[in-house]
Amino acid sequence: MGWLIPITAALAGQKGKDYDYTGFDSNQTRRTEAVVEMFRFAWSGYYTYAFPNDDLQPVNNSFANTRNGWGATAIDALSTAVIMQQTDIVNQILDFVPTIDFTKTGEGTRPGALADVSLFETTIRYIGGLLSGYDLLKGPFEHLDVDEDKVEALLKQCIVLADALKFAFNTTTGIPINNIFIHNQTFAQRYRIPDGTWSAGLAELGTLVLEWQHLSDLSGNAEYGELAQKAMNYFLKPSEEVWPGLTGGNFSVETGKILDAYGGWTSGNDSAYEYLIKMYAYDPEKYGLYKDRFTAAADSTIAHLLSSPSSRPDLTVASSFAGQAPQNYSEQLACFIGGSFILGSTVLSKPDYLTAGLDFAEFCANGYRYAPSGIGPVIYSWNTTELAWPQFANQSSFYENSGWFIDDNGAFGGGLTPEAVESWYYAYQVTGNQYWRDVAWALTLAQNRTERVGSGFSSIRNVLSEDGGGWTNRMQSFFLAEVLKYQYLIQAPEELKGEWDVEYAPDGVGQGGNVNPWIYNTEAHPFKVRAKTPV
Ligand SMILES: *[C@@H]1O[C@H](CO)[C@@H](O)[C@H](O)[C@H]1NC(C)=O
Ligand SMILES: *[C@@H]1O[C@H](CO)[C@@H](O)[C@H](O)[C@H]1NC(C)=O
Ligand SMILES: *[C@@H]1O[C@H](CO)[C@@H](O)[C@H](O)[C@H]1NC(C)=O
Ligand SMILES: *[C@@H]1O[C@H](CO)[C@@H](O)[C@H](O)[C@H]1NC(C)=O
Ligand SMILES: *[C@@H]1O[C@H](CO)[C@@H](O)[C@H](O)[C@H]1NC(C)=O
Ligand SMILES: *[C@@H]1O[C@H](CO)[C@@H](O)[C@H](O)[C@H]1NC(C)=O
Ligand SMILES: *[C@@H]1O[C@H](CO)[C@@H](O)[C@H](O)[C@H]1NC(C)=O
Ligand SMILES: *[C@@H]1O[C@H](CO)[C@@H](O)[C@H](O)[C@H]1NC(C)=O
Ligand SMILES: *[C@@H]1O[C@H](CO)[C@@H](O)[C@H](O)[C@H]1NC(C)=O
Ligand SMILES: *[C@@H]1O[C@H](CO)[C@@H](O)[C@H](O)[C@H]1NC(C)=O
Repeated sequence: MGWLIPITAALAGQKGKDYDYTGFDSNQTRRTEAVVEMFRFAWSGYYTYAFPNDDLQPVNNSFANTRNGWGATAIDALSTAVIMQQTDIVNQILDFVPTIDFTKTGEGTRPGALADVSLFETTIRYIGGLLSGYDLLKGPFEHLDVDEDKVEALLKQCIVLADALKFAFNTTTGIPINNIFIHNQTFAQRYRIPDGTWSAGLAELGTLVLEWQHLSDLSGNAEYGELAQKAMNYFLKPSEEVWPGLTGGNFSVETGKILDAYGGWTSGNDSAYEYLIKMYAYDPEKYGLYKDRFTAAADSTIAHLLSSPSSRPDLTVASSFAGQAPQNYSEQLACFIGGSFILGSTVLSKPDYLTAGLDFAEFCANGYRYAPSGIGPVIYSWNTTELAWPQFANQSSFYENSGWFIDDNGAFGGGLTPEAVESWYYAYQVTGNQYWRDVAWALTLAQNRTERVGSGFSSIRNVLSEDGGGWTNRMQSFFLAEVLKYQYLIQAPEELKGEWDVEYAPDGVGQGGNVNPWIYNTEAHPFKVRAKTPV
């Protein structure tokens, strides 16, 4: 029961780096096999009770359609199944892909499917999943016993999907409307601002370019990448900045101007920053401006946003901001920031990004360690003004040890999200330090203990409760796409690793330049980078 060890430290009121992972099984092969067992269990529950719908509801062996009803979990699981070499599952997914009708959604396709499609979610999960499966099966996993025609169908179907979506970019500025009806090619009214104009969130417009450009590179049709690039330009050359590189997150679709000054590496903004460094790594010659913008954002973050909770000066986190006022607030979703800084440190040879990135990864490791369930919180607050409010007074002794509290009594749930283990994976790759594997293994054990329910895994209702406080009954597709992939990659022994891993540079800072032959999209789907692909 290794998971008890770090948590016991938290419950005993010990503080800081006072934990012990020595009780863990250190056999990496066994750890890796255990992650594969979890993946196969999750897949089998989905395939038995939910396929070809989007998500499994594991508690009562039911399903839901939250991602257009095109089998989101199947498409999202493909690249993980390939990397784990689970050929039977790969073939189940490949058989399914040609049957999807990407030109229809809503009633009449699958029960409960919404008519409106999110461009952002569809891009990162479906386009990302299809292209990654294609790259992996045409490249390092071409030895798997699969039907070649069905591998080709991944790219063909991706083109059908992108062609169905691309009218979203047909606006005054080229900034896309995120929520669209594809069957009649109209925009969803419910996202219209009352004055009759449209707005777009930073993450929505800034997390398309990697997928759409990669589709251009694989299909030979430049249009897709150009559409996404045009939208991204409003973030690369912003109308206003709060600090160099850091902007508000609300863009006018009519003018491209930024309408607010709220931001950070938090949800709604997050992956636009991630894609700055990833595009540069994808093609350093073509994407020099992305490097400059990432450097500006990272430097401003270090200059203005580094913060330490009053009770835990040993921890460092990036604040969010309201104008030039840093807010003592972050989120589980922002835990990816460690990975982006570490990737930046290796690609740009910047030791200060490595220091910051490892600190950020540790902030979230601490978060998971102190949550009694072993699952980190959705919200991290270290705002002592709010802590003094009566409704949070019951978390103040907890805050004394942990350095965070949840400043929303309706937000105790959480659990299947990948951002923290993503950063731990980058941290392990670049340091070679077993500590990060142990941190990730503690999460694997906690997830298997508190989130495994019925035919799959579910988010829990209360991360502050040791048993998780019950389940939300939803296994989102990113649990298979991201969480289990990063948990596998971080534990996998050398013989299971390969060119798809991010740069392994245990001496600290990497070699600089384009050393990663693969880049992971924000849904953890690896793409073969452009500059390494001879044309
Ligand atoms: C590690 O686990 C694997 C799989 O169970 C086993 O084959 C191997 O012998 C173990 N290695 C050691 C050093 O115990
Ligand atoms: C763009 O939208 C306009 C109407 O707003 C329409 O006339 C035009 O055909 C559309 N273009 C494309 C390429 O869909
Ligand atoms: C397009 O479809 C949506 C969803 O079915 C519907 O609400 C909307 O009115 C339709 N728009 C047009 C112009 O037909
Ligand atoms: C963006 O700003 C507009 C206008 O102020 C507002 O109506 C809308 O709710 C904002 N959207 C977001 C996502 O903040
Ligand atoms: C960007 O992050 C800030 C801080 O968390 C948040 O207030 C804002 O709503 C986010 N922007 C969008 C478009 O979601
Ligand atoms: C702390 O919370 C208060 C109340 O929500 C807010 O007004 C203030 O800006 C926050 N300060 C910081 C530094 O987060
Ligand atoms: C916010 O955090 C900073 C440390 O970065 C601290 O000095 C300040 O007192 C905190 N403010 C609040 C309201 O918690
Ligand atoms: C703290 O008390 C509030 C009521 O004021 C309650 O909603 C919340 O669940 C309690 N939090 C904890 C961690 O017990
Ligand atoms: C996960 O849970 C299953 C079922 O309880 C168990 O068989 C398996 O050994 C567990 N794996 C780990 C790593 O704890
Ligand atoms: C399964 O549980 C969910 C609530 O978690 C409920 O909405 C759904 O109707 C249930 N499905 C069946 C088939 O009972």
